[in-house]
Amino acid sequence: MFYNLAEPSWGEEEAAALHRVIDGGFFTMGPEVAAFEEAFAAYHSKKHAVMVNSGSSANLAAIASQFYRNNNTLQRGDEVIVPVLSWSTTYHPLQQYGLKLRFVDIELDTLNMDVGKLEEALTPRTRMIVAVSILGNPAALQTMRDFADRHGLIFMEDNCESLDAELDGRKCGTFGDINTFSFFFSHHVSTMEGGMILTDDLETCHLMRAVRAHGWTRDLPPDSPVFERRGSDHFEAYRFILPGYNLRPLELSGAVGREQLKKLPEMTAQRRRNWQTFQSLMEGDERFIIQRENGKSSAFSFTVILNPEHHLDREKVFAALKEADIGFRIITGGCFLRHDVIEHYDYDTVGEIRNAEIAHDYGFFVGNAPRDLTPQIERLREVLDRSCR
Ligand SMILES: Cc1ncc(COP(=O)(O)O)c(C=O)c1O
Repeated sequence: MFYNLAEPSWGEEEAAALHRVIDGGFFTMGPEVAAFEEAFAAYHSKKHAVMVNSGSSANLAAIASQFYRNNNTLQRGDEVIVPVLSWSTTYHPLQQYGLKLRFVDIELDTLNMDVGKLEEALTPRTRMIVAVSILGNPAALQTMRDFADRHGLIFMEDNCESLDAELDGRKCGTFGDINTFSFFFSHHVSTMEGGMILTDDLETCHLMRAVRAHGWTRDLPPDSPVFERRGSDHFEAYRFILPGYNLRPLELSGAVGREQLKKLPEMTAQRRRNWQTFQSLMEGDERFIIQRENGKSSAFSFTVILNPEHHLDREKVFAALKEADIGFRIITGGCFLRHDVIEHYDYDTVGEIRNAEIAHDYGFFVGNAPRDLTPQIERLREVLDRSCR
């Protein structure tokens, strides 16, 4: 394809890492995963990292952990403030743990939650805010952090789409009490499938380590704050303290993650150069609403929303993109209220949901792989211009 939605970013280093694991003959979670966790935590200046087998699993383990803390524990029926545009598995663990969602509209330009609606979203039952920085563009994370602190709320960042983005010199995925990441193929770094959670809280970290592997204590040190050792080694080796899952990543993913992380700064720099090319070719054209950067984006895609005031035909644009061999897709998961699964949710909305509906009906995105995409972006510009006359 001339212009792909996503491209492989592996080289010889990743292949060598895979062979190192294969030669060692030990494939499930072990020292490679531990080394990747350590490097990932250090990259973000966070105390603890827990790797899991996907970003969705990261969200699941993060939410589960908040139900088992000693203090400030989530309870079924508690309310969570969420943006209405994100990926399905930002929301599913909240539903699965019996939480009620309060959906807030997004800003049409940044595509992130409209934080001007936070006060209106707050009720006596609110216990948590989930921030999502869409497609590399930092959300108003400090505003949400301050709001959460003022009201004693748990603050979670689902940062699965914004690894290496920055706000006020600080990395996205470090503002939350719990912060999740995805290493799916099309994201910033790829471990085939994979995810990570960062936290500074030891109790949360240990709860997630137990939830990650069957709810057992085996991956916890004897002085862990979440259990007291009381049996023989025979008992302790198979001791279950929480209703957990098996969300463990493979050693192969850990080994590849270590190599990908080394390449991340250069990949982000190249993506930012492409982003500047895209921006300079698109800006000032009122037919198209492109993402307005907040802080420092690590965009792995470029969004385009056809300005509804210009009454353009998105199907005609899609046909032209196909013809030009340019891949495109819905923005993240679109407006979540538009999906059938919403029937299974306990939720309400904070005022009118308008911008997410516009993004759903008039928007799409194309890829931003970490190599020079100038010819691809120029062709995109020309196709958009021609199909929107
Ligand atoms: C915001 C967000 N959260 C969670 C996920 C889930 O990540 P994964 O595909 O690794 O399960 C995604 C996936 O794209 C996402 O965009």
